[in-house]
Amino acid sequence: MAIRKIFPTLIYRDSLRRGNWLAFNARLLQECRQLRLDDVAGRRWSAKNYPGGYTSYNSACRMHQVSPTFAELERRLTRHVGALARALDFDLEGRALSMTDCWVNIMPRGVVHGLHLHPLSTLSGTYYVRTPRGSAALKLEDPRLDRFMAAPPRGSDRSAQRAWVQIPAQAGTLVLFESWLRHEVPPNPVAAERISISFNYSWF
Ligand SMILES: [Fe+2]
Repeated sequence: MAIRKIFPTLIYRDSLRRGNWLAFNARLLQECRQLRLDDVAGRRWSAKNYPGGYTSYNSACRMHQVSPTFAELERRLTRHVGALARALDFDLEGRALSMTDCWVNIMPRGVVHGLHLHPLSTLSGTYYVRTPRGSAALKLEDPRLDRFMAAPPRGSDRSAQRAWVQIPAQAGTLVLFESWLRHEVPPNPVAAERISISFNYSWF
């Protein structure tokens, strides 16, 4: 008897909490909040498209090219992106995976980030800057879900066979996945702001 797992969906998670992490993270936090103050266009866009929260997705979406602190985050992410690309057996044909987008998300209580994917990118992910106790997790959807016919419910809360898998949001950690994987952040249940930085990598 043999059971194989085929077409696995890989989720990469690691910590950046080493060296001067605390000071670095404090700089990122300060810049995220300053950006919200400065970014009038982003606040206007968020009021319509991200009710109650702030995102620079549509206004300041290349922060790694604007801020030395975000550029340093890009440098710290590089080896993790490479590790996931290797685990996925990508043949990059001599080209590189490069960060194309990098933006800020601030979620006060009750703010939702609806189900979505990241079109036209290869790898996407999030670095968590501030995650007050009880912050909403990242919720990933089984990419086969729309084909499940007559399938019984499966798996306990911790099983990888569940149709939804939640990854806890923890400051100082990053999560990476393939950009086609749909995901959401459920309503943030805590009063304090949950702050993250999201990014896309493309294959050029
Ligand atoms: Fe996303």
